[in-house]
Amino acid sequence: MPTIYRSRHDLLRNCWFRFSWCGFNTVRYLLCGLAIVVSAQNVWIENLAPYTPTPQTVVEKMLDLAELKPGEKMFDLGSGDGRIVISAARNYHAVAVGVEFDETLVRRSASEIARLALTERARIIQGDLMKQDYSSADVVTVYLLPIGNIKLIPILEKQLRKGARIVSHNAEFPGWTPAKTVNVEDDGQGKSHRLYLYKR
Ligand SMILES: C[S@@+](CC[C@H](N)C(=O)[O-])C[C@H]1O[C@@H](n2cnc3c(N)ncnc32)[C@H](O)[C@@H]1O
Repeated sequence: MPTIYRSRHDLLRNCWFRFSWCGFNTVRYLLCGLAIVVSAQNVWIENLAPYTPTPQTVVEKMLDLAELKPGEKMFDLGSGDGRIVISAARNYHAVAVGVEFDETLVRRSASEIARLALTERARIIQGDLMKQDYSSADVVTVYLLPIGNIKLIPILEKQLRKGARIVSHNAEFPGWTPAKTVNVEDDGQGKSHRLYLYKR
């Protein structure tokens, strides 16, 4: 049945009410959309390298190259199964922290750390390596795609203190001059590797 309005004023008031209700709903939907986009941005983590573990022989060479000392603090950015963190804590008596976003790898490395009774010196942060604080680091190790290193440059330049050492496996930091470069001709499986040492 059509609505009958008693006056023009009634008609206008009704139109305004309907219009406001539509507007209110539109704003509500827009705000919902915005909230979804913002929270998605907060949980979205860019994958800066696929999981490819560093062979154990090369792990030792990386930590030797960094001259990691007992009690020093080291971070492995994108720690995979935690092998660099575990070696740093177990063999070099460093305070070692890994950052890894893959839940399965975090669980695997954390349980290995617990099995080896290294929890006082080694731990893994589950999260984005681009969003951590590295200002306490003496040594940072990375094995990322070249684009990962490029994205890390402003973070490391801002956060790392003078004297901190960075060892990168296979990828350079463009624009930085390495203090030393080491070639590992054979990792035991016939593959060669190149390591870069940088000093802040
Ligand atoms: C090439 S693997 C190196 C693993 C370990 N560092 C090693 O050398 O054996 C790179 C690791 O970085 C992790 N990774 C990639 N992007 C990441 C991010 N934005 N935040 C945290 N971890 C990330 C991957 O899941 C992967 O385990």
